[in-house]
Amino acid sequence: MQIVRPNVDRPLAARGPYDFVVVSNRLPVDRVTDDDGVQGWRRSPGGLVTALAPVMEGHDGAWVGWHGAPGETLEPFDNQNMHLVPVPLSEEEVELYYEGFANSTLWPLYHDVIAPPEFHRTWWDAYHQVNLRFGEAVAAVAAEGATVWVQDYQLQLVPQYLRELRPDLVIGFFNHIPFPSPEIFAQMPWRQSILEGLLGADLIGFQRPSDTANFLRCTRRFLGATVKARHVNLETASGGARRSSRAEPFPISIDVGRIQELAVRPDVIARAKQIREDLGNPKTILLGVDRLDYTKGITHRLKAYGELLHDGSLKVEDAALIQVASPSRERVESYRLLREEVDGMVGRINGQFDTMQNTAIRYLHHSYPVEEMVALYLAADVMLVTALRDGMNLVAKEYVASRVDSTGALVLSEFTGAADQLKAALQVNPHDIDGLKETIVKAVNLSRSESGRRMRSMRRQVLDHDVQRWSRDFLATLAQSAAKGGAHLP
Ligand code: G6P
Repeated sequence: MQIVRPNVDRPLAARGPYDFVVVSNRLPVDRVTDDDGVQGWRRSPGGLVTALAPVMEGHDGAWVGWHGAPGETLEPFDNQNMHLVPVPLSEEEVELYYEGFANSTLWPLYHDVIAPPEFHRTWWDAYHQVNLRFGEAVAAVAAEGATVWVQDYQLQLVPQYLRELRPDLVIGFFNHIPFPSPEIFAQMPWRQSILEGLLGADLIGFQRPSDTANFLRCTRRFLGATVKARHVNLETASGGARRSSRAEPFPISIDVGRIQELAVRPDVIARAKQIREDLGNPKTILLGVDRLDYTKGITHRLKAYGELLHDGSLKVEDAALIQVASPSRERVESYRLLREEVDGMVGRINGQFDTMQNTAIRYLHHSYPVEEMVALYLAADVMLVTALRDGMNLVAKEYVASRVDSTGALVLSEFTGAADQLKAALQVNPHDIDGLKETIVKAVNLSRSESGRRMRSMRRQVLDHDVQRWSRDFLATLAQSAAKGGAHLP
């Protein structure tokens, strides 16, 4: 197989004007059509864009990413003070790079092989071709000495390609999902190339200290790198100068200000009340909010809930579970199968326990705007986060941020990154169905004083660590690592 290398003879004149460039698989905008049929772009709700937009505006910033439409090539455009550079993906690349290598190889491998990862050479070829295209797009717009921040597992080869194309750049990488242990990463046929790809960055950020430690162990084991105080030193291919990259945990967070603002808005509060009324004002509302993904432990949660109804610990007259499952990666086989399984479970549980007045599970296979999400958080007495593996889980942090009166109980899987920070949550091992059932019952019956104590403690943590602080910390550490000349050791 011929590995494509970047063309490093690019003339200097090809450099662009942007001194801060973010690159992610998706651009942070969604296509919208107004009432007159005119198409435009709307900034997507995520925390990442909220955190980075002010940095973009303060500097001369550009965002490079795919605009979401297969087979379509678009010119760069501006949106709300951000310069956006769309990277095209053909239909075939969406299948091989995005659905294939990113979401059927890396995603399951990095999430503890909950689903079996598939390894196909054609997928890998597409992955590095597409990564090279993203790298070239960044190299063409970044100014001399610019800072580039590469996001997530879809783009792990971009740091190295960029380093080769543009040695003048300061390069950061952040992995939003877990990084597996060497025992699991060992399965990856292209493990060395991926590690070398990441090591093109001056700073590599992870969610948890354990992800960071896994990565460092992988570089030692599979590249023979020397690791000292979270710095990885590697001989370059020529055997000459050594390069050093730093790896650190930076647990991501949410736009706390925005969530709190919505949580006190009268229309959002009224909507929360309406939701309770629509459900017949049950004593307890439980809530699950996830992308419909097998890492989220939705079936474990439903199993526990069904058993609680079956053994009478919960009654359909008193409790209602709202499960929002937003559609995701629907053309990938494992996601199709999961949907069938969840649809079937919900159907069986509702068929068995529904009455004319009450529904056991209100199952919503939709995405909702953030206003509706906050209304749901306000309506819910108990939030259920039962992921089998999750890089962070921002839903848990959003629930905490929205509970401005410090009421409500959070059941949180110990396999989420958020469990490191939300120590006062009711933590569970979602594989232990009996333990999960006991914890759900405990959450439903938690005294006002205990839930208040736990929620206040979690709120202190979340309010003090918003996503703006996360991006400031990362970028400050990146600037420091690059300024120390860590990138090029003699
Ligand atoms: C996770 C990943 C993101 C990804 C998102 C949605 O949060 O870390 O990189 O964008 O899921 O998945 P999608 O495949 O629709 O982009």
